Amino acid sequence: METSKPSPIPLCEPNLNGREKQYMAEAVDSNWLSGGSFLRRFEQQLTDYTGAAHAIGVSNGTSALQVALTLAGVEKGDLVLVPDLTFVATANAVKYLGADPVMIDIDAATWLLDLDLMLDFLENHTYQNHGGCFHRENHRRIKAIVPVHLLGNVCEMGRLLAIAKQFALTVVEDAACSLGSFKGGKHSGTFGLLGTMSFNSNKIITTAGGGAILTNDDILAKRARHLITQAKSHATEYIHDSLGFNFRLVNPLAAMGCAQMEQLPAFVQVKKNAAAFYEQQLAQCNVTFQQLTPGTDSNYWHSAMLTDNSRGLLTALTTEQIETRPLWTPIHELPVFREDLYVSRTNASSTISRRGIMLPCSTSISAGQLQRVCHAIRKHLN
Ligand SMILES: Cc1ncc(COP(=O)(O)O)c(C=O)c1O
Repeated sequence: METSKPSPIPLCEPNLNGREKQYMAEAVDSNWLSGGSFLRRFEQQLTDYTGAAHAIGVSNGTSALQVALTLAGVEKGDLVLVPDLTFVATANAVKYLGADPVMIDIDAATWLLDLDLMLDFLENHTYQNHGGCFHRENHRRIKAIVPVHLLGNVCEMGRLLAIAKQFALTVVEDAACSLGSFKGGKHSGTFGLLGTMSFNSNKIITTAGGGAILTNDDILAKRARHLITQAKSHATEYIHDSLGFNFRLVNPLAAMGCAQMEQLPAFVQVKKNAAAFYEQQLAQCNVTFQQLTPGTDSNYWHSAMLTDNSRGLLTALTTEQIETRPLWTPIHELPVFREDLYVSRTNASSTISRRGIMLPCSTSISAGQLQRVCHAIRKHLN
């Protein structure tokens, strides 16, 4: 007799059960597509929620990074410090500007940029000249740091900003994963000169594809809007005063974002519950979870854990129709970045990447599905 397959449990699927269709239809009916009232409303919702003075909708999180790094003054030949464990877009954005990333290894407990290691690197391998920071061996300027609030855990921004100030570095926060994450009551992405967000379909809210730049600086905000609209400097004539981009978020997608923002507090709660459930249900297994930095109120965007033989577990869960994924490959292991500097003592990023597994955590996940995942993990690990 054929046994019926269990229903699939997706990794992290979008949840469009609010007013998405209604608002998108209104946007289409309005005939305002490139810009329009939903875009303005979405940006306002983002500033209200995050406390940033400005939020500028853009086409995705990667373009947000590219523009933010441009605004931060990163130029061809510069170096930019990034964590070694992040989604590749963080490091790609640096390369798009003709600069190169310096990968700093992560802390083994928080999985975030290791600030002790970064400070050690800056103290022992750089010098300052004319207000800039330069690498001692290759004399290239180090212009910026891009901390990534990985999976929703917020970097120790107080300490990071102090180090940045000491070495004259600009801070652009990659908050792609951390809408809904706070540190000491302040929203992630609002500590540095600029912050960037992603609304890709797997993020805590989605606009199908989209992103935002956050800043408290009025001039930078204006400049960001200018750059993402092809740097057009005349109302009617096609005059473009610098090298601009076509990176705007369009109105119908912003409309989806407006409906998603209405549900954000509820989404954060589901993510927190899922993470707490996994930690509690798997406490007796030989697994490790990401440790939050002090003062972090995480959105727990993506549940993940470390275990021996994570790939074996991934395969076993696939046979039970449970979708999981490895953690990202460390940037220094990717061919594009092989020539770039990697600063590490223990190669924690490789160990964590090898042992890491991302667990199902859609905002629509049911209690029964969470139980099924935990049951399957316990079965395969014990
Ligand atoms: C840490 C990080 N940075 C940047 C990005 C890029 O965002 P997007 O996919 O919207 O371009 C992502 C998301 O996918 C991310 O997780």
